[in-house]
Amino acid sequence: MPKSVYPHEPRRALSGPKGLAITNLSYMTDTLTIDTPTTMPVAHAKALYVETYGCQMNKADSELIVGLLLRDGYRLTDQVEQADVILVNTCAIREKAEQRVLGRMSELNRLKSINPNLILGLCGCMSQHLGEKIIDKAPYIDLLAGPDSYRRLPAMLQALDTNQEPALDLSWDRVEHYLDIDPIREAGVNGWVTIMRGCDKMCSFCIVPFVRGRERSTPHQEILRQIERLGEEGYKEVTLLGQTVNKYQDGKVDFATLLQRAAEIEGIERIRFTSPHPSHFPDHLIDIMADSPKICPHTHLPLQSGSTTMLERMKRDYTAKTYLDVVYRLRKKIPHIALTTDIIVGFCGETEEEYQATYEMMQTVQFDAAFMFKYSPRSGTAAYKRLEDNVPEEDKGRRLTAIIDLQKSISSDRNQAYVGRTVDVLVEGQSKRDEAKLFGKTDAFKTVVFPALPEIQSHMIVQIGITSVTPFTLFGDVV
Ligand code: 5AD
Repeated sequence: MPKSVYPHEPRRALSGPKGLAITNLSYMTDTLTIDTPTTMPVAHAKALYVETYGCQMNKADSELIVGLLLRDGYRLTDQVEQADVILVNTCAIREKAEQRVLGRMSELNRLKSINPNLILGLCGCMSQHLGEKIIDKAPYIDLLAGPDSYRRLPAMLQALDTNQEPALDLSWDRVEHYLDIDPIREAGVNGWVTIMRGCDKMCSFCIVPFVRGRERSTPHQEILRQIERLGEEGYKEVTLLGQTVNKYQDGKVDFATLLQRAAEIEGIERIRFTSPHPSHFPDHLIDIMADSPKICPHTHLPLQSGSTTMLERMKRDYTAKTYLDVVYRLRKKIPHIALTTDIIVGFCGETEEEYQATYEMMQTVQFDAAFMFKYSPRSGTAAYKRLEDNVPEEDKGRRLTAIIDLQKSISSDRNQAYVGRTVDVLVEGQSKRDEAKLFGKTDAFKTVVFPALPEIQSHMIVQIGITSVTPFTLFGDVV
């Protein structure tokens, strides 16, 4: 297979914007788009279309990619048919996610019959996971770039102008923070701020350390600068992102201190973070969360399994008991906190008793919401190498359905407790299902839908009296 691998370039400032000023950037589901044309003639600038799959870190990375390429003279388009370059930023966490993207790539390939010069690139975790062998399967892919390679995208794209061979860069960079690149962020109330990259936890089921590399914390000054800028630009909320976000450490600045400093920044009303690890919740972090009204009373606390023997096989470094201890300490200091989680069923060797322990843990904790998955073996991980994926598909399916049903009923009960209460809602925009309604979120991350009023606009915090609920949404009226 022909290939060209781009060596690391020396660190240098990339070329500045080529007569490009950007106004009114908006974000559509999974796609970065620009509404209003740029102020300078851009007929010669190549049109870039970015599609994003997976977690919030991928969304933040896409914003980085856009920032980088607009700086290099590209312009954004929301019309995939008009793109000169399509970059698909991908997720490798489960096989299904990869299959979905491969289907989409072959669909996008059809656009090459309209525009033979179209460049189709695969970025992010899936590129890193599948490596160059993906080009054997999908030879129409022109570019592969892993999460540490975005800095070299302009050079790779430029080389494709003259070179027929695919451009590949899957190299690792233990110090890459993309510090000099300002992301072009989604317009809205929330701005993502990546505070760590990579992961050193090595959970046996998880591919992240193998596709995102070693853990490193971004210097705190840079994070605070980004948050200040978001505040000045009118964002009301920031979400700090990292694979084990509460393990953040930059010299003497730990995660608790970073949260405390972030909460002092003007303009930002709400601070969220995701995803923390249950093993890194010292009391002083919980105290700071409890003491700052800006730090949202919501924690996404991935459980994975409620069984200690299973947690051992998963190489999660906590037990069912120590997980419950974190829940207890969080709820003691922040009684109104909402807790959400991630759960995997059918991991290697999961017995009926181990699965029952998860079910019972969910009953005990009463999560507000949960993302629930069947185990999906990922090549490269410890479980893939050393454990057998031996839970029959039928059992995986039955267990998943049962916990989904359980969670639905728990979420419904938890939401029911909101009926009759008044909540502060940060308005995000028009409801997708009903134009006459607006939606927003509470500080506890509950989505609230309510009738639109002319005086209410996005970015405002309004009080809504809750009248009815589903397991996923609260409904009410402006108080
Ligand atoms: N199979 C199924 N689910 C997984 N997750 C991570 N790796 C796998 C896997 N191999 C889930 C975990 C994690 C979430 C982001 O995805 O629950 O917290």
